[in-house]
Amino acid sequence: MLDGMKETYAKIFSPSSKPAAFFSPGRVNLIGEHTDHEGGYVFPCALDFGIYALAAPRPGNTLRLYSMNFDGEYSAPFEAGFDGITEKLNGSRSWVNYPLGVVSVLKKHGYSFSSGIDILYSGNLPDGAGLSSSAALEVLTVRIFSDLLGMNIDGVKAALYSQEAENDFVGMHCGIMDQFAISMGRKNHAVLLNCSTLEYSYVPLELGTCKLIITNSNVPHSLVGSEYNLRRQQCEEALTDIKRAKDISCLCDLTLEELDEYSCAVKSPVNLKRARHAVSENARAIRAAEALRAGDLHRFGRLMNASHVSLRDDYQVTVPELDTLAELAWNIPGVVGSRMTGGGFGGCTVSIVESDAADEFIGKIGAEYEKRTGRKASFYAAQTSDGTGRLNE
Ligand code: GLA
Repeated sequence: MLDGMKETYAKIFSPSSKPAAFFSPGRVNLIGEHTDHEGGYVFPCALDFGIYALAAPRPGNTLRLYSMNFDGEYSAPFEAGFDGITEKLNGSRSWVNYPLGVVSVLKKHGYSFSSGIDILYSGNLPDGAGLSSSAALEVLTVRIFSDLLGMNIDGVKAALYSQEAENDFVGMHCGIMDQFAISMGRKNHAVLLNCSTLEYSYVPLELGTCKLIITNSNVPHSLVGSEYNLRRQQCEEALTDIKRAKDISCLCDLTLEELDEYSCAVKSPVNLKRARHAVSENARAIRAAEALRAGDLHRFGRLMNASHVSLRDDYQVTVPELDTLAELAWNIPGVVGSRMTGGGFGGCTVSIVESDAADEFIGKIGAEYEKRTGRKASFYAAQTSDGTGRLNE
């Protein structure tokens, strides 16, 4: 990967400069879906595929960016002065909005850009799969500025600034999960994160004779922006209703019993279902992390399956393709658990599968999925990695 990038860097930017190399992983969430924006727990891990970058400071105060994934038709980098970056660009190179969002947020927090910079990106995350390429790009860009322009930003701050860029500049009202998992991930571990307090702990991902398999439905999750923001709004309304009767600061402050008790305060039945998902999923995430710590993978798997059912019936963010993938998986002996992962409306499922059943899993699901939906699924055996950082070469 890096060799090809060095050649492109020399062509697009400068043959003489010696850029530093960085890597930012994608993420997969094991359980705790759509709980981050409701102050609950999430349980993701960082993946060993993601986005690489080569970058070097340059004289002046302009930013030059080039993506090997999106800019093939351009022979020159995108270029902007730091001072002029104020709002989102519409147009063909829309991917630049993620790094530009980061610049805008860093400026807002008082960081100054001591010189210009050139950045070349190249990623191997499947596009539109919901494995958080946008968060990977944001956190990567913060890390590059921090390291090369002396900003000294720690991993938690890098996640928060990246989330702010996504919320305020790009306009997607995501929670903190993706950016946190990507910035703070640790190889062979999942991160149990309390999204209210940002307290976190690492749990060893010991799968014994099993593997983690990510299955891409290859349904691009295009509705994710509008439907995601709508789900958040519905939860917000449920919270406002409950707050009239009980003093809480977020939905995940409630237990399921408490939600039942206050259910008649929630005016809309749809909003109540959304709240029930958030509260029940939060409890599942906590129990799943306990199960993993105790080495009870089968309990973990059952909680994954229940998570999918709740996302399908209460939160309603699965699509028929994701339901097909999960249901096919549940019927294969050797599958410990399977569920949709990420925002929903397309993207991937994550499954824990006995290694000796992996071929059957891929063969049977691949064939049956295509028969039922007319689409081809892709499968990745997931390995975990550390969070975003500079590579030693
Ligand atoms: C997207 C968002 C996250 C989180 C998940 C659902 O990935 O970016 O903040 O809300 O959806 O769990």
